Amino acid sequence: MKYIFITGSSKGLGKALAELFLKQNEIKVTGMARSCSISDENYVHLTLDLSNQQAVNDFTFPNLTDADEVILVNNAGMLDPIKKVGTFTGAAVAMNVQVNLIAPMVLSSQFIQAYQKLGCKKMILNISSGAGKYPIDGWAAYCTTKSGLDMFSTVMHAEQNLISNVSNRVKIVALSPGIIDTEMQAEIRSSKEEDFSQVDRFVDYKKSGELQSSLQTADNIISKLHFLYNREEVICSLRDE
Ligand SMILES: NC(=O)c1ccc[n+]([C@@H]2O[C@H](COP(=O)([O-])OP(=O)(O)OC[C@H]3O[C@@H](n4cnc5c(N)ncnc54)[C@H](OP(=O)(O)O)[C@@H]3O)[C@@H](O)[C@H]2O)c1
Repeated sequence: MKYIFITGSSKGLGKALAELFLKQNEIKVTGMARSCSISDENYVHLTLDLSNQQAVNDFTFPNLTDADEVILVNNAGMLDPIKKVGTFTGAAVAMNVQVNLIAPMVLSSQFIQAYQKLGCKKMILNISSGAGKYPIDGWAAYCTTKSGLDMFSTVMHAEQNLISNVSNRVKIVALSPGIIDTEMQAEIRSSKEEDFSQVDRFVDYKKSGELQSSLQTADNIISKLHFLYNREEVICSLRDE
């Protein structure tokens, strides 16, 4: 049996990934988000607010006895605050860091604790962003947390490589998915130019049809999983061949 745990499964890329995984045989998908929009006999939804530090800390992964493969997809993410430094609130930044960085760090730790000793294929797939590799004005919190997620993934990979029994290692990937037509993009297009100087560029991406659909992106990710398992690099883009 294949087990997939995926955060942010209620909409956008996370929902598309969950729905495509559910088309496979011998698979159980557990989604985590504040809301639920998937109904399937092989889907379990856990209502979890990743901005609630205590709820994330208290989360535990189930004991699995028949797993051939286990994957944690840390997909949930938020952009807000789209504000220049000097204008955002501490509460907004704290929430962004909790959802985009602390929650994936804690869930990854709990995943490794629960499944390290399983001899099956294991992966932590962190959904990162090009915004973690280059600066974008107005996105200080988002760029910083995605950059942190990349470094966190690199450290986890180094730690996994120290485990002498190769079959116990967890494969770690930080993947930039490209620009996807989700509510996150709608939020970008509705931001004020005084907060984000490149808003027109993102409006043009939508107008000129440059955004990929969630389903296209999810399909591309799932079809590349085998390639990602066998790749030495931790930080990847969907464009990598
Ligand atoms: N869209 C893009 O162009 C793009 C580009 C590069 C990277 N990404 C990354 O891709 C991932 C998915 O983005 P998306 O575009 O699909 O975003 P989206 O449509 O806004 O969906 C975000 C998902 O995250 C969940 N989420 C947000 N805050 C949460 C919280 N406090 N607790 C639990 N779940 C929470 C939402 O669920 P609830 O609201 O139900 O809780 C939702 O399912 C993110 O990591 C994003 O940074 C996106």
